Amino acid sequence: MGPAYNRPPMNPAISFQQVGKTFQTPRGALNALSDVSFDIHPGEFFGLLGPNGAGKTTLISILAGLARATSGRVTVHGHDVVEDYAAARKSLGIVPQELVFDPFFSVRETLRIQSGYFGVRGNDAWIDELLDGLGLADKAGANMRQLSGGMKRRVLVAQALVHRPPVIVLDEPTAGVDVELRQTLWGFIARLNREGHTVLLTTHYLEEAEALCGRIAMLKQGRVVALDRTSNLLAGTASTMLRFKTDDVLPPDLAAQARVTGRIAQVKAADAAAVEAVLARLRAAGIKVEDLEIGRADLEDVFLEIMQGAGSTRPTIAEEAA
Ligand SMILES: Nc1ncnc2c1ncn2[C@@H]1O[C@H](COP(=O)(O)OP(=O)(O)O)[C@@H](O)[C@H]1O
Ligand SMILES: [Mg+2]
Repeated sequence: MGPAYNRPPMNPAISFQQVGKTFQTPRGALNALSDVSFDIHPGEFFGLLGPNGAGKTTLISILAGLARATSGRVTVHGHDVVEDYAAARKSLGIVPQELVFDPFFSVRETLRIQSGYFGVRGNDAWIDELLDGLGLADKAGANMRQLSGGMKRRVLVAQALVHRPPVIVLDEPTAGVDVELRQTLWGFIARLNREGHTVLLTTHYLEEAEALCGRIAMLKQGRVVALDRTSNLLAGTASTMLRFKTDDVLPPDLAAQARVTGRIAQVKAADAAAVEAVLARLRAAGIKVEDLEIGRADLEDVFLEIMQGAGSTRPTIAEEAA
């Protein structure tokens, strides 16, 4: 890489600029996206998080040129996804949320046909590398319809990458897939990211996002409600969590600040004194506690806090220094 002062200013890998999307539905207009603006820099591993219906797939469909934004603009390495569709699309490898494939072709044929769409020929060595990296080498000759759901998912990833796109977009790639595939997939995608590919990932698995993504945007009802480095998001929340199991019903004051999932309760505490206060309250209420742990809040805690609109944290939208 040359010295910084000699380099021309770099385009963002992806730029979303005031993107809005309104769907006309029988029940009236639905604003799926409102004023979504952020840039993803070349080489970033970026997470797009949000509950079901937040607008993640809609935003990716607009990026992929499968849907039109109602307002705003999206570029990929400077290419407008509408006016300069072919160049933008060629820079993107998109792994869709839904499994779509042609059952009559073999895995290798599927990948060759996809290469043809992008005008790429003679890339069998790269196809073999994809098959290897995704644990598909022994399935190259198998027909798509013979593959399990997990194997189809791997082919979908390979298909997205046949033309060696600099930007890789994965829409919930691990929804409902087994641990082995997740590990294969993340090993491979992390390698591509180290080699310089930009990655945009949407996932429900917040521990994956926490482990992989350098920056994260959170969408809620079509709006960006958080945008920051993962480490800043984690640092910005009340830092300590008490976790325990109990069969007893918590007193209302504690229940109000707890997150309860079955027998497991989690209570946030700002500092050591707050931890002691919670413990004293549990003792006073005669709550029988098992497997008590005190730990750091994780991305799931941050996510829930932001989605519930709790006002206890500092503002979470930070404009990054690239
Ligand atoms: N083609 C469509 N027509 C009408 N509404 C849609 C369409 N696609 C998505 N939506 C709505 O837009 C919102 C965002 O959906 P989506 O982008 O799929 O969310 P996510 O991927 O975050 O779960 C939802 O309320 C969904 O019902
Ligand atoms: Mg979706």
